[in-house]
Amino acid sequence: MDAILKTENLVMTYRVGKVDVNALRGVNLSVGRGEFVSIMGPSGCGKSTMLHILGGLLKPTSGKVIVDGEDMADMTDAQRTDTRRRKIGFVFQRFNLFPTLTAEGNLQLAEQIHGKGKKIVDEETRREVLRLLRLENKMRHKPLELSGGEQQRVAIARAIINRPAIILADEPTGNLDSENSEIVLEMLQKLNRELNQTIVMITHNPEAAAVAARTVHMRDGMIVGEE
Ligand SMILES: Nc1ncnc2c1ncn2[C@@H]1O[C@H](COP(=O)(O)OP(=O)(O)OP(=O)(O)O)[C@@H](O)[C@H]1O
Ligand SMILES: [Mg+2]
Repeated sequence: MDAILKTENLVMTYRVGKVDVNALRGVNLSVGRGEFVSIMGPSGCGKSTMLHILGGLLKPTSGKVIVDGEDMADMTDAQRTDTRRRKIGFVFQRFNLFPTLTAEGNLQLAEQIHGKGKKIVDEETRREVLRLLRLENKMRHKPLELSGGEQQRVAIARAIINRPAIILADEPTGNLDSENSEIVLEMLQKLNRELNQTIVMITHNPEAAAVAARTVHMRDGMIVGEE
C-alpha cells in the first residue's frame, strides 16, 4: 500500500501541573493514498490528539509521523506548518472561524495563506465548493450570523478550498442535524471518490463512520481494532 500517512509507535504525554496524561501510548496507523478512514472511540481516548499530530499542529512526545514521505516529528515548527499548508485541510472539532470576518473572508484568508499571499483559487472552484455545501447565499454573513450547521459548512469549505491531498476532519458532523450531516458526508465522499483526496474523519456516529471504507477503533491511547 502506498501510505500517504503513517505513524510509528506514536506517543503523546501531556504534562498538566505535575501529572502526566498519557494521551497516546504507541499508535501505529497507516492510511493509503486516496483512502477514506474513520476513527471511533470513547471520549478522551486520544482521537483529536492523534489527528492534530497527523496534521502537524502538535509535536508528539516520541514516535514517527510520516506525511507523504516527510517525517513531521523531525521538523522545526516552521517546516511542519509549511507541510500542513501545502498538503492538509483541517476541519476542527470546534469551528475556529475568525469571528470578525464574513464567511467569504474566512475562505479568502485560507486561500491567501495557502497561496502565500497570491490568490490561487479560481472562481469556478470557489463557486463549486460553495454550491456543494449550499452556502452561496451566506457569504456576507459573519460566524455569529450563521447557524451552527452553516458555520460547520464554512469550516469545511475552508478546509477543502485549496484541494489539499489530505483532509483531516475532527467530528465534522458532531454538532449537525441529520440533514446537515448528510450534506457534509456526501461532500466528503465526493471529494474522496472524484478527487482521490485522502480523508481521516473522527466521529462518534456509526452511520457517519460507515461512509468510510475502513473504521479504526481507539481506546486508552491505542488502536484496538478495525473493521
Ligand atoms: N492540551 C492538553 N493538555 C493536557 N491534556 C490534554 C490536552 N488535550 C487533551 N488532553 C487529554 O488527553 C486525553 C486525550 O484527549 P483527546 O482530546 O485527544 O480525546 P478525544 O478522543 O478526542 O476525546 P473527545 O471524543 O471527547 O473529543 C484526554 O485525557 C484529555 O484530557
Ligand atoms: Mg476530540
